[in-house]
Amino acid sequence: MEYAKAEKQIKSITKNSSNVLLDIVDFLCNNFEHYSWVGIYIIRGSHLILGPWKGPNATEHTRIPIGKGICGSAAKTGKTEVIDDVHSDNRYLACFVSTKSEIVVLIKKDGKIVGEIDIDSDKIGAFTIKDKIFLEKIADMLSEHI
Ligand code: SME
Repeated sequence: MEYAKAEKQIKSITKNSSNVLLDIVDFLCNNFEHYSWVGIYIIRGSHLILGPWKGPNATEHTRIPIGKGICGSAAKTGKTEVIDDVHSDNRYLACFVSTKSEIVVLIKKDGKIVGEIDIDSDKIGAFTIKDKIFLEKIADMLSEHI
């Protein structure tokens, strides 16, 4: 799906849905072929706790310490992580054998990190600058819903 069109539809989900986080992970996973698994982690103290997710399999990493893995690193540094080849990154916490690349985008509220969107792809180098910009906008829309 085109990013601008998706952005409009997601804006409407944030206004009309009674379960915004779940509906958005569903929407992202269903409409972008290179998004193989989509999840939202929420910060609780010193950990990231897995919230709604959509994908073919559940992950064992439902509670990640801040600083650990790609997810925990993003939460620690406050910066988006785009990993073209997860197997060449020694921070990577493996969830699915099929995963080749990953993006983690932070959800911030009043400048404070409250959660993140984590997306795995079965394609190597799947995430471009367009995905980064798009997902950072979506993360901003989610800040009030965490
Ligand atoms: N790969 C992540 C863990 C979460 S799973 O991808 C769903 C990481 O390295 O932090």
